[in-house]
Amino acid sequence: MKPLNNSDSLILLGGGGHGRVLLASLVASGCKNSLIGIIDPMAAKLGKTIGSTPVLGVEERLVFDYPPTTVKLLNGVGSIGSTVKRRKLYDRFIDDGYEFASVIHPTAYVADGVVVGVGAQIMAGAIIQTGCTIGDNVLINSGAVVEHDVKIANHVHIATGAVVAGGVELAPEVHIGCGATVIQGRKIGVGSVVGAGAVVLQNVSDGVVVAGVPAAVLA
Ligand SMILES: CC(C)(COP(=O)(O)OP(=O)(O)OC[C@H]1O[C@@H](n2cnc3c(N)ncnc32)[C@H](O)[C@@H]1OP(=O)(O)O)[C@@H](O)C(=O)NCCC(=O)NCCS
Repeated sequence: MKPLNNSDSLILLGGGGHGRVLLASLVASGCKNSLIGIIDPMAAKLGKTIGSTPVLGVEERLVFDYPPTTVKLLNGVGSIGSTVKRRKLYDRFIDDGYEFASVIHPTAYVADGVVVGVGAQIMAGAIIQTGCTIGDNVLINSGAVVEHDVKIANHVHIATGAVVAGGVELAPEVHIGCGATVIQGRKIGVGSVVGAGAVVLQNVSDGVVVAGVPAAVLA
C-alpha cells in the first residue's frame, strides 16, 4: 500500500452514503484539501457541492480529463449485498492505468505487519489484528473487528460492526453483513453474501446468500 498523504490529488467517485463517509475520513486525516472534487451520477447534484467539495459532474468519463499520473481515485461505492458494482468501478479505471488511494481512518487500529492492498479502505473504529492480509479494493467498515490471521481477498466488504474471527478466509467479492459474526477458521466462497446479524458456524460455498442464526442459505 502507498499510504494516502497530503501531496496526492484525489477524485472521489460517488457522493452517496459511503462517499460521504470517505469524505469525513479525509477530513479526519487532514487530507481533505487534496480532494479535487466528486463525480456523482445523481444529476441533481451537478454544480453543487458535497460538504465544501465541488461536484465535478455526473459522468465517470470526466476522470479522463485528469491523466493517471496526476490523480488518485477513491471508490465511493459501498455495498449492502453484492459487491459487484464496487468491483466493476475499480476494474474499469485500473484497466485505464489509474490507481486508487488507500484510506485508513486515524481511529482504526491496524496491527503492525498487516498487509493492506491497493485502494483498501479501513473506516473509523475498525480493528485489524496481527497476521491479516487485506486485498485490493477491500472495504472494512466502521467498527468491524477482524481477528488474527484472517485472509481477505480483493473486493471484499466487511460491513459495519461485523466480527470475523481468527484464521477465517474470505474469497474475492464476499460481503459480510453488518453485525454478522464468522467463527474462527471458516471459509466464505467467491461472491457470497452473509446477511446482517448472521452467525456463520460452517464454511460457505461460492455464490450463495446465507442469513440467520446459525446461518443457512436463503431459499
Ligand atoms: C441477506 C440480504 C442480502 C438479503 O437481501 P434480499 O435478497 O433483498 O432478501 P429479502 O429482503 O427479499 O428477504 C428474503 C427473506 O430473507 C429474510 N432475510 C433477509 N435478510 C435477512 C437477515 N439478514 N437475517 C435473517 N433473515 C433475513 C427476509 O426476512 C425474507 O424472509 P421471508 O421470505 O420469510 O419473508 C440482506 O437482507 C442483508 O442482510 N444485507 C446486508 C446489509 C448490510 O450489510 N448493510 C450494511 C452496509 S454498510
